[in-house]
Amino acid sequence: MWCVILGIVLILFGCGDAKELPSYLKLCQRRDPQLHQCIMDNVQILKPKMKPGIPELYIPPLNPLVIPEATLNSGSSFRATFKDIQLYNAHEFNLQSFDVDLDKYHIDLKILFPLLRIKSLYSFNGRLLILNLNGKGPADGNYTNVQVGLSLNGKVFKKNNKEYVSWEKEKIDINIEKINLLFERLFGDNTELNDQTNKVINNNIDGIVEELQPVIQEVVSGFVFSLVNRLFSRFSLNELFPPK
Ligand SMILES: *[C@@H]1O[C@H](CO)[C@@H](O)[C@H](O)[C@H]1NC(C)=O
Repeated sequence: MWCVILGIVLILFGCGDAKELPSYLKLCQRRDPQLHQCIMDNVQILKPKMKPGIPELYIPPLNPLVIPEATLNSGSSFRATFKDIQLYNAHEFNLQSFDVDLDKYHIDLKILFPLLRIKSLYSFNGRLLILNLNGKGPADGNYTNVQVGLSLNGKVFKKNNKEYVSWEKEKIDINIEKINLLFERLFGDNTELNDQTNKVINNNIDGIVEELQPVIQEVVSGFVFSLVNRLFSRFSLNELFPPK
């Protein structure tokens, strides 16, 4: 889902008429009073292209979006590693609001994902709330109405006499209406204990998400910003906003 944000951030800054930018994008002038509408039009243009990915804009395939690995640590007592993470339906997003200030390099976005599904290979080690979790295997999860709020701050820097922007997270909020998770083989072949523990996990999902919220945000924003900054280190400001 984070690449969708990347895509939208890109659209915001990808409105200039530099020749490197694809011609199917509608050109928006930086001072255009209709800038907001122009950006929304570009979101609609790019949305159907996002599912397979847009290599010329550094947007990877969005269904599934593959993330090699993520690690969560909750204090010293719990560690979770997720490998081969496959995220489905990230292309089915609604951009609920955005606010951009091109003078201050500030962006606020709100995006809703009606249904995300994430599959991975998990490995747990330690104690989370009331549970001792030490197992590994396939994981599956459905997440209904995932709302992501993101604020970004840009800083201008110079490279080869050109100006570029690097982005930092100011704020990230993640709200999820409903989660259903399944961890296979938490206790190896003991299916009864597996089933029971999955029930406990799903019945306590709010507490678990709350416990892990800071780390989830850290992992997610680390991923987003590495992508965003890779993009913005390749297109200079003048390429993104041609001077008048
Ligand atoms: C997620 O949704 C899919 C499709 O509806 C379903 O097949 C799968 O069992 C669900 N997984 C979980 C963990 O709820």
